[in-house]
Amino acid sequence: MSSPVNNASFRLENLFGMKGKVALITGGGSGIGLMATQSLAVNGAKVYITGRTKEKLDRVVDLYGKDISGEIIAIPADVTSKESIQKLVDEISAKESELDILINNAGISSAKQNTDHEDSKELQQELFHNTSTVSDWEDVMRTNVMQLFFVTTAFLPLLSKSTEDTSGWSSTVINISSISGIIKESQHHFVYNASKAAAIHLTKMLAHEIASSGVKIRVNNIAPGVFPSEMTAKESGDKQKSSLEKEKFEGKVPAGRPGKDEDMAGAVLFTASNQYLNGQTVVVDGGYVLATGSV
Ligand SMILES: NC(=O)c1ccc[n+]([C@@H]2O[C@H](COP(=O)([O-])OP(=O)(O)OC[C@H]3O[C@@H](n4cnc5c(N)ncnc54)[C@H](OP(=O)(O)O)[C@@H]3O)[C@@H](O)[C@H]2O)c1
Repeated sequence: MSSPVNNASFRLENLFGMKGKVALITGGGSGIGLMATQSLAVNGAKVYITGRTKEKLDRVVDLYGKDISGEIIAIPADVTSKESIQKLVDEISAKESELDILINNAGISSAKQNTDHEDSKELQQELFHNTSTVSDWEDVMRTNVMQLFFVTTAFLPLLSKSTEDTSGWSSTVINISSISGIIKESQHHFVYNASKAAAIHLTKMLAHEIASSGVKIRVNNIAPGVFPSEMTAKESGDKQKSSLEKEKFEGKVPAGRPGKDEDMAGAVLFTASNQYLNGQTVVVDGGYVLATGSV
């Protein structure tokens, strides 16, 4: 007798289902982190969100944690401190025996520079004297790069346990990098773009070293184009959501608009669930990189 056809494994819930999964999302209280939180929690995952501002996290739990098949739980933490990361590990370990999905999303932007000078002295004045400080470089690298390494390595045992205990599933780390780490323009912020390039390379190194150690955890990164967030819109409203004017993107990005919640949600579900994806950059940018032609 021949074996039955495998149509059932092609159902959406079997390809992308998040029921019963446990996730941690840093910076889950706004912007892209909140989009990722909703995409996992609405589809059944228990999602721990962290950030430095407790009120923001509590508002997300209150607004988005009701009447969904999953759950959202707030744990305030500063991911640039090793002590704070260890406390986070301790708190989650006390409640969970494993972690299925870690999304390192927390990030900050940097000071802006005007690169439109044609004279070397003017360029020096702007880039060396006026707009760049060592502390800005340190802050951005600490938040956008260093924490990816420390948060990921701190959670290795809990992540590994998830793979060991779940047949057909390997746990996953998703770093939120940026197209700013891919294109050659500084976009008027050298340190931010350098930090995102570092985040992409750190993803590859972690994926490689973890796999070489025989530990089964997939490490990928999502490189977003422009999405509405507190970083890009400078604020969020009473629903913790931000908005950007579509008109500013017409003619600049092939999609002709900024990214939407749903664009990010689909990318997060795909990256979290696809068991054959490891060490990769998933670019979700409405064609931004394509348009700049500058890879
Ligand atoms: N929006 C875009 O267009 C875009 C494009 C490409 C990449 N990204 C990346 O996407 C990620 C999310 O940014 P976003 O645009 O969504 O901006 P956002 O709304 O400002 O979100 C960043 C979140 O990170 C948290 N955070 C910052 N520093 C932290 C720290 N030390 N410890 C814990 N949490 C911290 C912030 O909360 P607290 O301030 O309360 O801590 C905030 O909720 C960032 O890595 C960013 O670089 C964004």
